[in-house]
Amino acid sequence: MLLSIPDVLNPEQLATARKILEQAPWVDGKVTAGHQSAKAKDNQQIPEDHPAARQVGDVILASLGGHPLFIAAALPQRIFPPLFNRYSGGQSFGTHVDNAIRQVTGTPHRIRTDISATLFLAGPEEYDGGELCIEDTYGLQKVKLPAGHLVLYPATSLHRVQPVTRGTRLCSFFWIQSMVRDDGRRSLLFDLDLGIQRLNREFPDHPTAVQFTGVYHNLLRQWAEV
Ligand code: NI
Repeated sequence: MLLSIPDVLNPEQLATARKILEQAPWVDGKVTAGHQSAKAKDNQQIPEDHPAARQVGDVILASLGGHPLFIAAALPQRIFPPLFNRYSGGQSFGTHVDNAIRQVTGTPHRIRTDISATLFLAGPEEYDGGELCIEDTYGLQKVKLPAGHLVLYPATSLHRVQPVTRGTRLCSFFWIQSMVRDDGRRSLLFDLDLGIQRLNREFPDHPTAVQFTGVYHNLLRQWAEV
């Protein structure tokens, strides 16, 4: 499932985040790449444990924690502390797949990357190129969202970032270990959840909503690992 989640950060949060990130040190993005993806990767990142990354990362995590659409779609169990990258001057990231397991630096914690997330911190008018291209079962999807918006996609997908030929593409990226690791099952639960919400809106107190809610929770009980 490929899903865009609007307004994860508001304009004020975005402005503050960008000011903090601008002043942070930027290093070669190969530091977090696996052996295969290092060959394809040409960008800059803020070191994972830098206070600026943690400060802005915590704002993102707090916002996601209160975002019903994100919770319903991702069914998050653990979220990797957000990382930050930027591309300019023709930089790109060739086709790759994200590592299946990621260790949080300086901690014993490991995360299985079920879902990949990219939060756009620069508006599409600020740079040319830089589309996130995801190879999905529906074909190639090109994603370039307004600043503050997030895209979720299965971490199993091959993806790349097109060369940025003007301006700077600034993003946060991270991974989610979901309570439901299978993308197909997670999509079914999300569809059922949206259907129940619609039923509740259009036919308040209809008894069928309780029955469907029961089915939702019983499927979650069968499939969730907590
Ligand atoms: Ni990637």
